[in-house]
Amino acid sequence: KKLLIIFLLCISVNVFGQNYDEAKVAAYTLPDLLMSVNKKKITTVKDWENIRRPEILSLFEENVYGKMPRQFDNIVFEVKGENKNAMNGKAHLKEVEIAVTSNKKTVRINLILFVPSKIKEPVAAFLLINNRGKENTSPNREVISGFWPAERLIEAGYAIAAFHYSDAAPDNEDTFQNGVLRLYPEQLSAGDGMKAVGAWAWAASRVMDYFKQDKDIDASKVTVVGHSRGGKASLWAAAQDTRFAMCVTNCSGNTGASLSHRRFGETIERINTSFPHWFADNYKKYNSNEKGLPLDQHMLLALVAPRPLYVTNASQDLWADPKGTYLSEKEAEKVYRLYKLTSSLPVSPPAVNMPFVKPPLAYHIREGKHDLTEYDWAQFIKLADNHFGKKK
Ligand code: GCU
Repeated sequence: KKLLIIFLLCISVNVFGQNYDEAKVAAYTLPDLLMSVNKKKITTVKDWENIRRPEILSLFEENVYGKMPRQFDNIVFEVKGENKNAMNGKAHLKEVEIAVTSNKKTVRINLILFVPSKIKEPVAAFLLINNRGKENTSPNREVISGFWPAERLIEAGYAIAAFHYSDAAPDNEDTFQNGVLRLYPEQLSAGDGMKAVGAWAWAASRVMDYFKQDKDIDASKVTVVGHSRGGKASLWAAAQDTRFAMCVTNCSGNTGASLSHRRFGETIERINTSFPHWFADNYKKYNSNEKGLPLDQHMLLALVAPRPLYVTNASQDLWADPKGTYLSEKEAEKVYRLYKLTSSLPVSPPAVNMPFVKPPLAYHIREGKHDLTEYDWAQFIKLADNHFGKKK
């Protein structure tokens, strides 16, 4: 309680220099999603896919997340542990090491995967980029956590997987290089080199490489899920790797799903100062210079189109700017419309605990704090059921 009071006091005297007052949001103009760099108005899926989408991807690589290296020398999948009777016989547990080698260095991503028992055909899967304690995704289920309610997913007929983000890049400004970036040292000195968030997204794509050859998994039905910093990575993963069929970005906030131009809650300067190891060095040019950004996060959401996208907020999580997140998702509708996909999101942000769960664009604001909970997962399952067709 004491901490909460101190925190609220800090906010009221604005110790962090962040704005939490809607009246103080200055007018801003978002870069136009549907206008190419050469001022061509984009009105067709063809022009979106051939002109504007690649342009926007490059803008994000150059200015925000850094380039995504696609080459490596070798990838090896090894099932290191297995339990065909996990979860009281309801699931088949596989602990898979994904070893990727390049530049004579190897990075190892440890995947925990539960597949429903007695499946008749390959199943759809959820993959969580785990940015919390490893115990949240424990294979032995010593800890049953709402952050990754694997039992519930199995019950709903989905395979459920997770890897810990530190396997790809430790979340620390001094040690983040000790993962994927050992394979790509040239990235570290380049202005548009990827850093930790890029590495986490890269690792999600290597899990997709694994899913492609696991006969239990329907790799055409994989949802990548992330919370907060993990939600920034899940978005970037889905944007650059279209093999992901669906994306969930939970409370992802600044440089995730929310609009930077609004400068509400966390700002670019704040995030680059607290976490200098997350984004490309070029991103620091936009500290206190959101106006200069040639993009905003609605354009990242649009890169997920036409695939379903679930965006969330929590009512007490003003730091992540729920309103700016919703406005961002509403803007992305324009690209879904090119695909003739109609979003059912209302004009104004929905009330707390009133989920809108119809594909292609889903949203809810959950009552409570910044977190990923069983309530959130229950909605993600509904979107997947709706999109992939419920199977049991
Ligand atoms: C910090 C950071 C956010 C991030 C969050 C999290 O609050 O400022 O940008 O989303 O941590 O990952 O939980």
